[in-house]
Amino acid sequence: MQTSELEISKKLRQVIRPSRYRHTLGVTDTAVLLAACYGVDTEKARLAGLLHDCGKEAASALEHGAVGAKLAKEVYGIEDEEILSAIRWHTTGRPGMSLLEEIIFVADYIEPCRDGRLPANRLQLLRKTAFSDLHRTVVMILDDTFAFLRSRKTTIDKRSVDTYDYYKNLISGKETN
Ligand SMILES: [Fe+2]
Ligand SMILES: [Fe+2]
Repeated sequence: MQTSELEISKKLRQVIRPSRYRHTLGVTDTAVLLAACYGVDTEKARLAGLLHDCGKEAASALEHGAVGAKLAKEVYGIEDEEILSAIRWHTTGRPGMSLLEEIIFVADYIEPCRDGRLPANRLQLLRKTAFSDLHRTVVMILDDTFAFLRSRKTTIDKRSVDTYDYYKNLISGKETN
């Protein structure tokens, strides 16, 4: 049986550190608003947002999506494949994401507690664009992520590149129509 939302929050608070819990709540609220905007089930968005980083303390940066999906199922009792998939792909994205997957990917990046490496005006633009063009926002986020990783001379995951190519193609198709 699926764990109730309250129990999930309680359990999460015990295993993730306070700053990450704050981020988690920011992602959850943002995901619910985006879901309402795009006609996606807000309860699914809430659960996916709450649990998107549940694997973060247990796995590497790149692996925590897959590990999180496994924990969401085994520890938090989430059976819904759409929710599990949104957790699984929230770091790299994937070509052809579902709306819920896109929402969690974007919410993770634009939530109100997200600070630091981006200039405020860029973050503001991303937040605005997210509510009018989700696909373009995915491209913009990956653009920024790649620039950041290049500046740190860190390797870029192949899955993220595939995601970028797919969404770049999708929005350029829109532009020529
Ligand atoms: Fe994450
Ligand atoms: Fe996150």
